[in-house]
Amino acid sequence: MKDDNFLRENNARHLWHPMGHPGAAQTDAPRIVRSAEGVRITDIDGHSAVDAVGGLWCVNLGYSNDKVKEAIARQLHELPYYSAFAGTTNPPAIEASWAVREFFAEDGMARVFFTSGGSDSVDTCLRLARQYHKLRGEPGRIKFLSLKKGYHGTHWGGASVNGNARFRTAYEPMLPGCFHLPSPYTYRNPFDESDPERLAQRIAAAMEDEIAFQDPSSIAAFIMEPIQGAGGVIVPHESFMKLMREICDRHGILMISDEVITGFGRTGDWSGARHWGVQPDMMSIAKGITSGYFPVGAALVNEKVAEVFEKAEAEGAIYHGYTYSAHPVGAAAVVACLEETLRLDTKSNAAARGRQLHDGVRELAGRFDIIGDVRGGHGLMTGIEIVSDRAAKTPMDAGTMKRVHQATYEAGAMVRLGMHNILMSPPLTISEAEVNTILSALEAGFSAA
Ligand SMILES: Cc1ncc(COP(=O)(O)O)c(C=O)c1O
Repeated sequence: MKDDNFLRENNARHLWHPMGHPGAAQTDAPRIVRSAEGVRITDIDGHSAVDAVGGLWCVNLGYSNDKVKEAIARQLHELPYYSAFAGTTNPPAIEASWAVREFFAEDGMARVFFTSGGSDSVDTCLRLARQYHKLRGEPGRIKFLSLKKGYHGTHWGGASVNGNARFRTAYEPMLPGCFHLPSPYTYRNPFDESDPERLAQRIAAAMEDEIAFQDPSSIAAFIMEPIQGAGGVIVPHESFMKLMREICDRHGILMISDEVITGFGRTGDWSGARHWGVQPDMMSIAKGITSGYFPVGAALVNEKVAEVFEKAEAEGAIYHGYTYSAHPVGAAAVVACLEETLRLDTKSNAAARGRQLHDGVRELAGRFDIIGDVRGGHGLMTGIEIVSDRAAKTPMDAGTMKRVHQATYEAGAMVRLGMHNILMSPPLTISEAEVNTILSALEAGFSAA
């Protein structure tokens, strides 16, 4: 390893970072995170902070899970790679598929298609949804519905159903046939409706209207996050996902629950759909499937979808997949990670610590006028919308957001900015004292605004 001077001099000189400006990164270089332990990260200057981001909504088990690390190391020696394209498989892939299916059995999931991450999983679901309808003799069902403010990754399909302009505009035109409904975002919405239950009904009515306009027989699937994550931690009313499920059923539209963030305990339940009492037709999962220790994702389908593929003639073949689908090292990480997730019952800690974090931020909102909206309270996902004028709900400027971020970090917590939102998704293993560290660091951050 080169010395620290080399690292500082070459930081962002040759590497273009995702979700950032490559020119700006050369003058304002990214922080170099060198090591991590438990739920804390340490940077190249030796400063340590509680990681309220959980890597990127993914390090659910914290950074020190030796069981997962050892499983990865063992598998690297046994079989570092072999293809899982039709004709060959490997032992960890078989075990991981069983473990994932068991994990999501209560959600009605019956089959697992492994991928390398969340964007892969979303695009796999979208593709399989179209193929499902073709196999059933409804080839006209090709369109997709989704929600504004939704985030579904950055492949063409996922980006096309994404509901935030900043992930789309520079790359347009997107996939044709993708249509967006309003988000269940009570703080700002086109209906000027702040009651979450009434807003859910308004969106349901808008969905019915859009389906009638498009023609139900042209729509393949509706995709949604049970709680919108990257869009700002937008928690819908408890009736919302059920309403969407009922409309999908009535019109023969498949429901895809994008569980890339909400899967594996983050909401306080093992899946976001289960949190709202809904069984989707498909799920996209990633992140918590390996706690970020190895890049793995999966698309899951229920019995109804599986049966159509498995009973079909030759057209049931899936001509889609990735070199690293069912990667043996990734699969070994999945098996160990799911064992640890269940053993530690991370969902229960997520529920308790999520409440603590949400309550603590609400208390801060009573003292800091720049807090316009606080969202969360369902597991360890908390969003804080920062404004410069509370009455006018004016989004805070980027310079102030940066100052708040820096001061929070210096005071002991790494948080994530999504425009003028502060987003938090710490490891599900976090302790009460560590949540208090995040809250006191946020207080220091807001004081620096
Ligand atoms: C809900 C959701 N879907 C899909 C993705 C894309 O996952 P990845 O970045 O692993 O491709 C993300 C990433 O944050 C996500 O939050």
